[in-house]
Order: sequence, then C-alpha cells, then structure tokens
Amino acid sequence: MKVKEKEASEEEGVTRRNLLKRAGCAGAVALVLGGLASKASASGGNYPRVKVANTKDLQAGKTVKFDYPLVGRKSILINLGCSVEGGAGADKSIVAYSMFCTHLGCGVDMDKESGMMVCECHQSVYDPKLSGKVVEGPAPNSLPMVLLKIDKNGDIYAEGVAGLIYGLRNNLLDGEEVK
Ligand code: FES
Repeated sequence: MKVKEKEASEEEGVTRRNLLKRAGCAGAVALVLGGLASKASASGGNYPRVKVANTKDLQAGKTVKFDYPLVGRKSILINLGCSVEGGAGADKSIVAYSMFCTHLGCGVDMDKESGMMVCECHQSVYDPKLSGKVVEGPAPNSLPMVLLKIDKNGDIYAEGVAGLIYGLRNNLLDGEEVK
C-alpha cells in the first residue's frame, strides 16, 4: 500500500473507532425515551415464550446467541453492564437483538472493542444501548429487539420481537417456531 493511501486508511480507521466508542449507557438513555413504546406495540402476534439463559450465566460483557422466534433466525442476548432504557433485569442491563442486518440481511455481531453491533457486509453500525438504532452505514432501520422477561429465578425468556426481521413477511411465518 502507498504511504498516502495508508495514511488515509489509518485516519479513516481512527475516525471510525472514535465514532464507535463515543456512545455510553448514560448518554444513551435520554435519546431512546419515547421510541420503545412504539417498538413494543409493533411486536403483536402470539410469540413463543422461550428460555434463553439465566442471569448467572450472563455477567456484564457476556453474550449468548439463540434462535428466535424461528429456527435458524439468530438473535443475540447481551449484558451491557449498565442500565439501558428498555433493558431487562434488576439493573436494566440485558437486551437482545436479531442478528440479521436490516440492509440486506447479512450477519450482525457484537464488536467487543467498541461495544457496538456491526454488519459484516457493508459495515452498518447499530448501538445496542439505543434499542439497536443505526448510527452508521446504509441500514435503513434499527435492529429488531427481542422482548425479554426475567423471572424470580433469574431465567431469561424471549417473549416477542419489536420490528420486522429481515427477509420475513411476518416474524412468525415461513419457518419452524422455536420451542
Ligand atoms: S447487509 Fe448489512 S450493511 Fe449491508
């Protein structure tokens, strides 16, 4: 790589890293207020209630991947380690999202360094502390949020999805429901 190209690429990398790191739980709460009510109302339907983990297995920073609401439709459960509007658990730190990008359906995964959800194809970036909101890239919509409930034993249940998962006409059609 030529020196100028390398410098440009490094600068781009620095800018991108700054963007990825800038959001934190405290700053995210105010921005997300008001958005969750409409997202939750979009969940509808008769979703299965599925145990996906227990809080004792999900310390801060940990993730667990699971299929929901259909077999093969991967979602990710994340303990963000800080309180988030719409989060589940005693400290509201647990959230879950579809892992299918809303742009063209490629895989989205947690980037441990930045704490953001990043798409492998065209690098859309979603903020898990802002209900999966898009903060960079071509993705048109937030990541669908899996609605969670935690019982007194710490068992975490998926109970619905707010937002349409990429590639589906309806989150509950065109596949086998998980049990
Ligand atoms: S498929 Fe994710 S950004 Fe294009």
